[in-house]
Amino acid sequence: MADTDQRPRPHDSLIPADQNRAMFDTIAGYYDGTNRILSLGLDAYWRRRGVALLDTKPEGRYLDVGAGTGDIALEILRQRPDSRVVGIDPSRNMLEIGWRKVEDAGLSDRISLEEGDVLNLRFEDASFDGAITSFCIRNVTHRRRGLEEIRRVLKSGSRFVIVELTEPRGPVMQPLFRIYARVVMPLVTRILSSVSAYRYLADSMADFPAPEVFSNLMHEAGYVNIQTIHVTGGIVTLFVAEAP
Ligand SMILES: C[S@@+](CC[C@H](N)C(=O)[O-])C[C@H]1O[C@@H](n2cnc3c(N)ncnc32)[C@H](O)[C@@H]1O
Repeated sequence: MADTDQRPRPHDSLIPADQNRAMFDTIAGYYDGTNRILSLGLDAYWRRRGVALLDTKPEGRYLDVGAGTGDIALEILRQRPDSRVVGIDPSRNMLEIGWRKVEDAGLSDRISLEEGDVLNLRFEDASFDGAITSFCIRNVTHRRRGLEEIRRVLKSGSRFVIVELTEPRGPVMQPLFRIYARVVMPLVTRILSSVSAYRYLADSMADFPAPEVFSNLMHEAGYVNIQTIHVTGGIVTLFVAEAP
């Protein structure tokens, strides 16, 4: 089947990987704080929901793609203290914050966060009991290739969970959200950090494919039993799938 995801669309807000890395390197220092404010504290809840859907097993080994400052990895350990997590991310500055948090939590022997790109994972086939990515896949230029790479490293029958911001639909939530994304978010970020990075956030949310289109891409990338769960009025969608 043709991989339509590889063709850039004229309205696509996606930026090249090196610019994306530079953007996250720039905002790393205030990423956690800005997130908490912009999400009204809901980001931790969204990650908690995503990790719960991973259905972790005793002593499992999990992959966190786009691990950033490490919150998903830490949440996996909170929910399953005997697991091991490998997190990968191209942004060194994001990882440095994550390393500190992991060390402060005394979990350096269970969580390893390393530089890496989802398009080229260094891990062996079928070497993880599950994988998760939160607020990351939106930024990936070749999404289908990224999804296929993740599937390659998953054991058969194991779960893959995506936590992603999506533009809510519906007559009430959509206009409300657009006002929030176009007016409130830039105002807050002007005070806190980099306006352009958060304008990119709003644009990339609007451009992210509808959940049913993205589910189809997951299907094309070889996943089975794909489910979508809308959270907080559709501002976040959780995609849950299995490696065949
Ligand atoms: C919005 S942050 C999310 C971080 C973290 N998962 C969280 O829940 O806060 C997106 C992360 O995806 C990473 N990222 C972007 N492109 C990537 C790629 N090709 N492979 C892996 N990670 C990527 C960025 O560097 C950034 O740290």
